[in-house]
Amino acid sequence: MTQGLGHRLDAAAASLPRHIAIIMDGNGRWAKKRYMPRTLGHREGAEAVRRTVTACAELGVPYLTLFAFSSENWKRPADEVDDLMWLLRSYLQREVNELNRQRVRIGFIGERDRLAPDLITLIENAELQTRNNDGLVFTIALNYGGQNDIVSAARRLAEEVAAGSLRPDQITPESFAAHLMTLGLPDPDLIIRTSGEQRLSNFMLWQSAYSELVFIDTLWPDFSRESLEQAIDLFNRRERRFGATGES
Ligand code: FPP
Repeated sequence: MTQGLGHRLDAAAASLPRHIAIIMDGNGRWAKKRYMPRTLGHREGAEAVRRTVTACAELGVPYLTLFAFSSENWKRPADEVDDLMWLLRSYLQREVNELNRQRVRIGFIGERDRLAPDLITLIENAELQTRNNDGLVFTIALNYGGQNDIVSAARRLAEEVAAGSLRPDQITPESFAAHLMTLGLPDPDLIIRTSGEQRLSNFMLWQSAYSELVFIDTLWPDFSRESLEQAIDLFNRRERRFGATGES
């Protein structure tokens, strides 16, 4: 566990991860600790989303991806699913102007077919309105599952082979990655999971091959700029070897 480093990020000495991805976990436990309904934990979680986007934009992190709703989260009680969808709607309705002001470009990964039509419209409008921004690229993973992402890519490649437009030997890690939903995003350098759980839960399975994983005890609604800076500090102390020995 990684807490209590007690100092701020030394921006001059630090190299910023190019892409930070976060598994936001612990909203329910945050609420339970306060004898509140889970809904209020998610609401506070949305505030942490605002803080984190602003912090990344200000620090100059180029890419941020947040796991907002997994393809497995439909198994939650209908009320909770409705509430999470309502929070996303309200976030998009309220935040797009502010995101534009911060020059943030917003995008979504995940299957859209199960989402309500009005939410899809809000998503499309947010992407359209912010598409020319040159600041932080902020991606929300919504109804996203890493295994589905890989299977859809494999299916599309198989269709191309069946249609005769692709030879099997032309399938490479690069051409495979180009069929994933994350096309255009670099692989995450740093994946943070809050709340003490230490697993990926079907998030970016292909893309995390060389990511540094940082697990912190903080529950997502308590995640602050300082938590982010501590995670970046830890990232900076890791030696990334990408399969090599680390000796030049
Ligand atoms: C995990 O906590 C959190 C989620 C499944 C949802 C994350 C959603 C938000 C932070 C709110 C809206 C998002 C945006 C982008 C505006 P949990 O409920 O699994 O917590 P628990 O493990 O303590 O029960």
